[in-house]
Amino acid sequence: MQAGGGAAAVVVVDGGKDGHATPRTFPAKLLRPVLLSAVLATGFLAAALLMFPGGASSYYRLPRLAAPDALRPTPARHQQRGEEELESQESGAAERWWARPPARSAWHNMSEEELLWAASFEPRAQHRRWPPGMPHRTPKVAFMFLTRGPLPLAPLWERFFNGTGAEGGRERLFSVYVHTTPGFRLDFPPSSPFHRRQVPSKATRWGDANMVDAERRLLANALLDFNNERFVLVSESCIPLYPLPVVHAYLTRSRHSFVGAFDEPSQHGRGRYRVGLAPDVTLAQWRKGAQWFEMDRHLAVYVIADDRYYPRFRNECRAPCYVDEHYLPTVLSIVAPKQIANRTITLVDWSRGGAHPATFGTPDVTEDFLGRLVGKKGSPERCMYNGQSIEVCFLFARKFAPVALPQLLSLSSEILGY
Ligand SMILES: *[C@@H]1O[C@H](CO)[C@@H](O)[C@H](O)[C@H]1NC(C)=O
Ligand SMILES: *[C@@H]1O[C@H](CO)[C@@H](O)[C@H](O)[C@H]1NC(C)=O
Ligand SMILES: *[C@@H]1O[C@H](CO)[C@@H](O)[C@H](O)[C@H]1NC(C)=O
Repeated sequence: MQAGGGAAAVVVVDGGKDGHATPRTFPAKLLRPVLLSAVLATGFLAAALLMFPGGASSYYRLPRLAAPDALRPTPARHQQRGEEELESQESGAAERWWARPPARSAWHNMSEEELLWAASFEPRAQHRRWPPGMPHRTPKVAFMFLTRGPLPLAPLWERFFNGTGAEGGRERLFSVYVHTTPGFRLDFPPSSPFHRRQVPSKATRWGDANMVDAERRLLANALLDFNNERFVLVSESCIPLYPLPVVHAYLTRSRHSFVGAFDEPSQHGRGRYRVGLAPDVTLAQWRKGAQWFEMDRHLAVYVIADDRYYPRFRNECRAPCYVDEHYLPTVLSIVAPKQIANRTITLVDWSRGGAHPATFGTPDVTEDFLGRLVGKKGSPERCMYNGQSIEVCFLFARKFAPVALPQLLSLSSEILGY
């Protein structure tokens, strides 16, 4: 039994990790051969200017806004000032370059190649995520919706996001990206967090590698906004189990990314290993995990830039091997074992058996049922968070049928807190 609900539990377990201020070590394996940060900035701007010349509506506002500040030589008058003043001028310039306003629309016309390239930049100097001298900023959580078409539970999500946008002088806690079947047009009014948040999409099929292509495409689009620090993949049938500030705190204060990874000896686990993956991946390294991941920026950059393992998985892992259940668990367990929590934060009910998890419809969605999901009634299992055992294991749950929406809306404020 747990009386306090999620918010209290989360506050208690906060290990005081000051996310972006904490110096991080970057294992050599993970480092991409990229340019030094100064060269990176200039090269990126120059290249981006060449790539997107003058397109008024082109996605990238960065080069146009930032070039004058970042590339202009320091005016002579600065040289007469004190050193301290000069320093603050310079860090201001870095901040202006970095903190460009995010694009209003998530749409762009970059090719897949251009997109992955543009998204793969990462600050390396001094292991610092934020520009030097910059005041504390609120990192954002990117919610990446992988859907076939409509978002039947959008009214619930709109309620979840409500009040956590930029209004009232507060910093935004989130960004939204939606990948649909190509050609499908979502039509949300400007007041909705889903308004113009579709990203250029390609066809995906359940169990096919193009599902992971879509996940990488979503990650790449979300990486274009430097304020996004955490990246969570959700489907149209997912619901959030706690208010956004709780979810935001849980994710941004976590030292680990929530990627499920376990060694499953059966035919559904090790049985799907492909000898063609050796010697890059051995049977002992083979892992399984749920598709619905959450990861930090550093791992996200690794994933979209991985040209060692991903092409091998795409070629070798074919049904009954499923790239979306094995690629991330296996590869991140190899290259970044200490950075993943080995557990998912998306609750799924497999108890009914079969290839697909249970879908919750109208009869299922009761006060008791939702209460159990958030651990306010009954006793869910505990799990590890920043090295401590806590009650809050899941932030999202699936799968919910569209018919469950009215009940979810009538219960969400009382049971889920939003
Ligand atoms: C991309 O968009 C810009 C601005 O709308 C346009 O000028 C350019 O021709 C487009 N490029 C492609 C390849 O469609
Ligand atoms: C968002 O909150 C405001 C004020 O609390 C309320 O008037 C509005 O209806 C809410 N919108 C949604 C989609 O819940
Ligand atoms: C996840 O598993 C790896 C082994 O694959 C282990 O090294 C790591 O410590 C585990 N992560 C956590 C948070 O326990």
